[in-house]
Amino acid sequence: MRAIITTAYGSPEIFKLDNIAKPEPKANEILIRIHASSVTKADTMMRTGKPYIGRLMIGLTKPKNPIWGTGFAGVVEAVGSEVTRFKTGDKVFGENLANMGTYAEYVNVPQDGIVAHLPAHLSFEEAAGLCDGGVTSLNFLSNLGMVKKGQKVLINGASGSLGTAAVQIAKYFGAEVTGVCSSRNVEMVLELGADQVIDYTEHDFTQNTHSYDLIYDTVGMRSFAECREALTENGIYASPVLGMPLLYDMMKTSVFGKKKAKFSATGALPKKEIKRLLHILIQIIEAGKLKGIIDRTYALEEVAVAHEYIETGHKKGNVVIKPTLTA
Ligand SMILES: NC(=O)c1ccc[n+]([C@@H]2O[C@H](COP(=O)([O-])OP(=O)(O)OC[C@H]3O[C@@H](n4cnc5c(N)ncnc54)[C@H](OP(=O)(O)O)[C@@H]3O)[C@@H](O)[C@H]2O)c1
Repeated sequence: MRAIITTAYGSPEIFKLDNIAKPEPKANEILIRIHASSVTKADTMMRTGKPYIGRLMIGLTKPKNPIWGTGFAGVVEAVGSEVTRFKTGDKVFGENLANMGTYAEYVNVPQDGIVAHLPAHLSFEEAAGLCDGGVTSLNFLSNLGMVKKGQKVLINGASGSLGTAAVQIAKYFGAEVTGVCSSRNVEMVLELGADQVIDYTEHDFTQNTHSYDLIYDTVGMRSFAECREALTENGIYASPVLGMPLLYDMMKTSVFGKKKAKFSATGALPKKEIKRLLHILIQIIEAGKLKGIIDRTYALEEVAVAHEYIETGHKKGNVVIKPTLTA
C-alpha cells in the first residue's frame, strides 16, 4: 500500500511517500481502507517535535510510529477472528490515537478503539475531520464549560476545526453563541448558527460591555487575564492550548476566586470517556445539528503541502487527505 513515512522531526519535507506491505488485522482488529484522513493543527505541532516534552509520548529522537495521522474514515476491508462489532463493507470513522497510521491507504484499528459506524448522510471527508474538532469541543463545552440552555458562550477562533464544531455543539445545547473570527469568515460562522459574530480585526471582545458564562478560546490567542472582565461572576475561561500562563491561572483559580481557567488534553482522557463523547457527537450529527466543514482536500502525496497550509493559521474548519482515489 502507499503510505507517508516519517522518520524524523522537522519541516514538512520530512514526509516521504513509500510503498509498504498492506497490514494484516490481528484477531481483535479491523482493517480499514481509508477514504479520508484528517490533517490537524496538532499533527503540525507534533511534526516539529516541539515542545520537547511531547516526545516522551511520540518518540525521543525520532517518531516511534513511522506512519502518522489519527483521524480516519473508510470502509472495513477485513476483520480479525475475534471481531464482533464490525463486518467487511461497514463504513466507519474514528481516531486511531494510540497507534496513528492514517496517512496511508489502509490502517488497522482495534474493534474496541475510538471507532464507530459512519452516521447516515455524513461524507468520509466530513467524518474524518469531525472526530478531532468535534470530540475536543464537546469535551470543552460539556465537561469543562458545563454549558446549559440559555447560557452565553463566546467561541474565539470560531472558524477553525474546533471552532466550527463548537459553534454548532453550543447551539445544540441551547446556548446563546457569539463567534469570534476575521471578516472573511463572518458569514460562515453565522450560517453555522452563531447568534452574533465579532470580527476580531475590528473589535476586541474583551473590551465590549457583554459578559459570558463561558469563553472557549479554541486557538489560545487570548489569556484568562485578558478575558476575566468579560466573564460573568462564575464564568469559565477554557482553552485547548496549554502554556505556562494558563497552567498558572488554572492552579490559581482552582483555589481562589469564582472565575475559573480550565484546560484538558482530550486525547489523554480515558478511552471509555472519549468513546462516550464520540457517541454523543454521533447523536448530534444524526439529529442534523452538526456538519463537518471541509476547507481543502489533498492527495496522500500532498501531506507536506497540507501541513504548510495549516501552518498559515488561517484554515476554515478541516483539512483532509484522500489516500484512495475512489470514494
Ligand atoms: N487540548 C486538546 O484536547 C486539543 C485537541 C485538539 C486540538 N488542540 C489544539 O487546539 C488548537 C486549535 O486547533 P484547530 O484545529 O481548531 O485550529 P485551526 O483550525 O488551525 O485554527 C485556524 C483558525 O484560527 C483562526 N484564527 C487565527 N488567528 C485568530 C485570532 N487572533 N483570533 C481568533 N481566531 C483566529 C483562523 O481564522 P481567520 O483565518 O479568520 O483568522 C482560522 O480559521 C490547536 O493549537 C490544537 O493543537 C487541542
